[in-house]
Amino acid sequence: MVSNLIPPHSEVVDVCCGDCAIAPLLRAKGCRYVGLDLNPFFVTHACARGVDVRRWDARTDPVPTADVIVIQSALYHFIDRDRELLRALMEKARRVVIVSEPVENWATSGSRILRSISRTLTRVEGEIFERRYTEHDLRMVITSVAPRARFIGANRNIIASLPVEQVK
Ligand SMILES: C[S@@+](CC[C@H](N)C(=O)[O-])C[C@H]1O[C@@H](n2cnc3c(N)ncnc32)[C@H](O)[C@@H]1O
Repeated sequence: MVSNLIPPHSEVVDVCCGDCAIAPLLRAKGCRYVGLDLNPFFVTHACARGVDVRRWDARTDPVPTADVIVIQSALYHFIDRDRELLRALMEKARRVVIVSEPVENWATSGSRILRSISRTLTRVEGEIFERRYTEHDLRMVITSVAPRARFIGANRNIIASLPVEQVK
C-alpha cells in the first residue's frame, strides 16, 4: 500500500526501517532506497542482503534529504516528541512524507497477555514502549504538522501522505 504512493524512480529514505520489507517493492519501481534504523541486527542483515541500511538514531542523528521519507509502524516510539520528528522529516523531504501507523493491535489489546507479548517484542534497547495512538490522536498529531495531509488507510492502520509543498 505504502509503495503504491511512491512515484517510480524516487529517492526514498525509510526511517526506523526494521527489516526494510518495502525495499524490494521500491527497487522494482526503480527507486533509490536508504533504510535507517537503530537496531544493529537489522542493519547487518539488510547489508548482507545488499540493501543500503545504515545505523541511525532518530533521537540524535540528522535526517537525510530525499524525495520521499517514509516512517512505518514506528511513530509510537516518539509519542512525546512526535510533532518535532514529523517536522524534521517534512523539512528534509522534497515531495512527501508518508506515515503508516497501526492504531489498534496486540499492544492495545484487552488481553493482558497479548499486550505484554507485543510490548516486549517491540522493545528498543531494553526500553518498553507502553503507549500507542488512538486513531483520533494520530490524526490530530499529523494534521497539526501537515494540515493538508491526506489519509488513505483507516481501520487498524492509518496511512497518511503529508505533502511538503504545502508547508514550505
Ligand atoms: C515496529 S518496528 C517497525 C519496522 C518497520 N518500519 C516496519 O514497518 O516493519 C520499529 C522500528 O523502529 C526502530 N527504532 C526505534 N527507535 C528508534 C530510534 N530512536 N532510531 C531509529 N530507529 C528506531 C526499531 O529498531 C524498529 O526497527
